[in-house]
Amino acid sequence: MPRGQFITFEGIDGSGKSTQVRRLTQTLETQGIEVVTTREPGGAPGAEEIRQLVLTGDPDRWSAETEILLFTAARRDHLEKTIQPALDAGRTVISDRFADSTRVYQGATRGDLRTKVDQLHEVMIGKEPDLTFIIDMDPATALQRGLARNSGEDRFEDFGLAFQETLRAGFLALANDFSDRCVLINGDRDPDTVAVDIADAYAARV
Ligand code: ADP
Ligand code: TYD
Repeated sequence: MPRGQFITFEGIDGSGKSTQVRRLTQTLETQGIEVVTTREPGGAPGAEEIRQLVLTGDPDRWSAETEILLFTAARRDHLEKTIQPALDAGRTVISDRFADSTRVYQGATRGDLRTKVDQLHEVMIGKEPDLTFIIDMDPATALQRGLARNSGEDRFEDFGLAFQETLRAGFLALANDFSDRCVLINGDRDPDTVAVDIADAYAARV
């Protein structure tokens, strides 16, 4: 059984991650690769229940510290029930967000909690992707795109534009810190052009 790859997409809200997860999945499936597409928070029944808790309600419903625990609990369930079984079966897993989101959203926006995020990750998750696409773009445009969806899961969008700008800087720093596995993609272009860039970067790396 060939070893499956673990690929993640990261970036600010509305940057086009879900769109590009679908596009890369289609591209790989036409190459005969078995893909499991998933997302965080969520990706397993218990983790999807936690998703409801963290993505709805007032922005100040949870502190950043409590969020670290909730997102990590959801991730542990996702890893046990969905990601690891798929990788063990030789499938490629593409996840819309993973631990890098916690490093940035909880670790670098409301004080410096990055050490706590990394410590909990090491103890309870201990897994990193093989390849991460970080979609970078102007936060104002991304915020408009995200809020226009009216998903009802806008707790983080409701923190506002300055928060999204802090997130963008956090993801750029992360791309630099983990340059071995991260590829930075300009998301401020039409979806077809972005998809071609991602497929090319995939082919060059995998
Ligand atoms: P994310 O998963 O990062 O929040 P989505 O893929 O859901 O982003 O995209 C957010 C919204 O923007 C959707 O309505 C989607 O159709 C639209 N969109 C996605 N990619 C692009 C793009 N490259 N240019 C313009 N609109 C886009
Ligand atoms: P997502 O559904 O990808 O939202 P969007 O489509 O707006 O990008 O992710 C849900 C939200 O959860 C998003 O605002 C980011 C946030 N989040 C964290 O704060 N920490 C995490 O660890 C994860 C996985 C997501």
